[in-house]
Amino acid sequence: MGYKPLCFGLTCILFAYYIYTPMPENIEEPWKVRIMDAAIKTASLMATILEKTGIKRFDELFSIIIKLDYTQPISDENVTVMDTTFSDIPVRLYLPKRKRESQRPAVIFIHGGAFVLGSYKQTPLDLLNRWTANKLDAVVVGVDPSLAPQYPFPVPYEDVVSVVKFFLQDKILAKYGVDPNRICISGDSSGGTLAAGVAQLIQNDPELKHKLKAQALIYPGLQVVDLSLPSHRENEHGPLLSWKLAIKLACLYLTQDKVLPQAMMKNQHMPHGSMQLFKLVNWSTFLPEEYKKSHVYTEPILGRLNPSYSILLDSRLSPLAVNDSQLQNLPLTYILTCQHDILRDDGLMYVSRLQNAGVKVSHDHMEDGIHGALSFMASPIYLKLGIRIKDKYINWLEENL
Ligand SMILES: *[C@@H]1O[C@H](CO)[C@@H](O)[C@H](O)[C@H]1NC(C)=O
Ligand SMILES: *[C@@H]1O[C@H](CO)[C@@H](O)[C@H](O)[C@H]1NC(C)=O
Ligand SMILES: *[C@@H]1O[C@H](CO)[C@@H](O)[C@H](O)[C@H]1NC(C)=O
Repeated sequence: MGYKPLCFGLTCILFAYYIYTPMPENIEEPWKVRIMDAAIKTASLMATILEKTGIKRFDELFSIIIKLDYTQPISDENVTVMDTTFSDIPVRLYLPKRKRESQRPAVIFIHGGAFVLGSYKQTPLDLLNRWTANKLDAVVVGVDPSLAPQYPFPVPYEDVVSVVKFFLQDKILAKYGVDPNRICISGDSSGGTLAAGVAQLIQNDPELKHKLKAQALIYPGLQVVDLSLPSHRENEHGPLLSWKLAIKLACLYLTQDKVLPQAMMKNQHMPHGSMQLFKLVNWSTFLPEEYKKSHVYTEPILGRLNPSYSILLDSRLSPLAVNDSQLQNLPLTYILTCQHDILRDDGLMYVSRLQNAGVKVSHDHMEDGIHGALSFMASPIYLKLGIRIKDKYINWLEENL
């Protein structure tokens, strides 16, 4: 018997087991979420087994599943859609067909997937970018930065920098009829990490003539300094994104060495000399009272990890871990957070930090929200929550860009 029938049998058993994982009480369409959650948990365990037996790397199974959902660039009655490259990085352009005398706004969108998975080609993101282009009469640029582990940090970040700098050139903006004063950078999850990090670079670069008008971050991850926030503790097992899965995937962005994820799980990964950074991500200071609940702040344990990774100090990985002086030039900001999400407190703290630095922030919090819902806006799994998040994001852009 080959390993495939065995995998199939095991998958069925695991799925039947995981389907009874408890869910938060207030979530909408609980059975759909349950099915998705069980599917992801099953896939994670199968991926672990395939990795342990040396058949596939952990991320490869997820990658195969996600690629089933990739779309071609298909134009519709309102929007011309095409795949091309900006500065050798793949991008998908959405160009409104409507006649227009004045210049258009533009949105640069970076997809999530823990830096190792995903593409603008995924059906829900293709729809999102298409709807954005149509509703705002805007040029939308979906970006596919290189993916880890083949291209680890900082390559994906640098790819986004290259795309944004390429796009901000006068001749390129003119080619697409874009108004240089109305450009937003957006992203969900790890795409939000990249968007936030690149926005900091662009806004603080005195050499660049054109700046961003806005940034929109949808359930972004914004730091890897303190991995024991209340939201990590409360949502350790999901739904959808468990703590273990997030760490396993996101660590591939940094290293394939197994000791880093283990240290991160214990929150003992930061090197000596990083105390300064803990002040900048201190949930006890920056989290609104209602999210602190009965959680107790524990002082960080430093220097336990050997070898130590100096890249963990890098603000391109943790846009929250910068001083106010690097925040104050940031543009108008939209942040969406979800209650049942390990990354919730990253977003909540960024709201506080940006407001303290004098940046204008709009914040939407989804009380029944779960991580990644934007990726479930098309069959086979269609969540009303995904549509509500999409509407909030596009409405904000419509009013503010
Ligand atoms: C084109 O735009 C119109 C008006 O906004 C809308 O009703 C229609 O559904 C759009 N078509 C597609 C394919 O999105
Ligand atoms: C975090 O804040 C709490 C209370 O506001 C304080 O006791 C603690 O020392 C701070 N820790 C760091 C590392 O800044
Ligand atoms: C932030 O400010 C502190 C103290 O003012 C300084 O030691 C540190 O180097 C600064 N960090 C960055 C990233 O600029």
